[in-house]
Amino acid sequence: MNETDTYILGRSDRETRRLVLQHQVYGPITRRFFQAAGIGAGMKVLDLGSGAGDVSMLVAEMVGPAGQVIGVDMNAEILETARARTQAAGWTNVTFKSGDVREIALESDFDAVVGRWVLMYMPEPAQLLRQVASRLKPGGIVAFHENDFTYPPTTFPLTSLSEELMKWGVPPVDDAMRRWTSTAPFQGAESQMGTKLFRVYLEAGLPGPQLIVEAAAGGGPNWPGYELFAETMRSLLPMLEKTGRVNAKAVDLDTLADRMRKTVTDSNGLQMMPLMFGAWSRKV
Ligand SMILES: C[S@@+](CC[C@H](N)C(=O)[O-])C[C@H]1O[C@@H](n2cnc3c(N)ncnc32)[C@H](O)[C@@H]1O
Repeated sequence: MNETDTYILGRSDRETRRLVLQHQVYGPITRRFFQAAGIGAGMKVLDLGSGAGDVSMLVAEMVGPAGQVIGVDMNAEILETARARTQAAGWTNVTFKSGDVREIALESDFDAVVGRWVLMYMPEPAQLLRQVASRLKPGGIVAFHENDFTYPPTTFPLTSLSEELMKWGVPPVDDAMRRWTSTAPFQGAESQMGTKLFRVYLEAGLPGPQLIVEAAAGGGPNWPGYELFAETMRSLLPMLEKTGRVNAKAVDLDTLADRMRKTVTDSNGLQMMPLMFGAWSRKV
């Protein structure tokens, strides 16, 4: 974590910190995905569900000073964090708009619309894609990066802790629980959005997308993934406890990241996170 992050996080909440950790672990993957999708210099890009601004800043770097990024999020508080971080990082080609992506008025000359971990929150993701594709120039790129959390995090070699983590980290796959219904920040979220992307693009009237599937992974004492996992568990725990799958005492959140670090490091092994699906296609 760099000094800017620490400064900004000093006056933000735990959820923002979780999003920043997520970006440290997933940023390199998202960058590779956007490169494959064709995001490049000079483009005007719309970032849906921009959160703490990590995707917007990544795209700002990729489009360069001749390009432009507009991030949209309905959480006005997190947009303040995004604005402060963007300013501190020196990006002048990024602006943020507060509002619901399904309702906000947008220009119609975007070269690309992107998003990460946002379609999972949409009750009608295909409808949203159809709607935002109308804001693109012909040939514009539609690129979304989403997980399927039913492909569990694991370690190599497998340890008893990682076997426990698999049980905790994988949402139940029966229909009733496919949408995690009870707890922010995952309220109503679709846990299998990644594997539904191809179908959702088709339903939106877009060409069948190209796909990249990758998992974040790391090892050694300094990998930020252990802390990310523990923070994600903190957000999910109330929901998981309601399902009767997990109890807080067994998880022991305050020591979880350190226990993960130790078991992985002791075996010179690696920890793999849930699979991440990137889909992109172009408006015809
Ligand atoms: C998990 S965060 C992802 C943030 C960011 N895309 C990233 O990858 O770091 C999801 C974000 O989507 C936003 N969001 C969810 N539904 C939305 C909607 N209907 N309109 C605007 N923003 C929405 C939330 O407020 C949250 O900031």
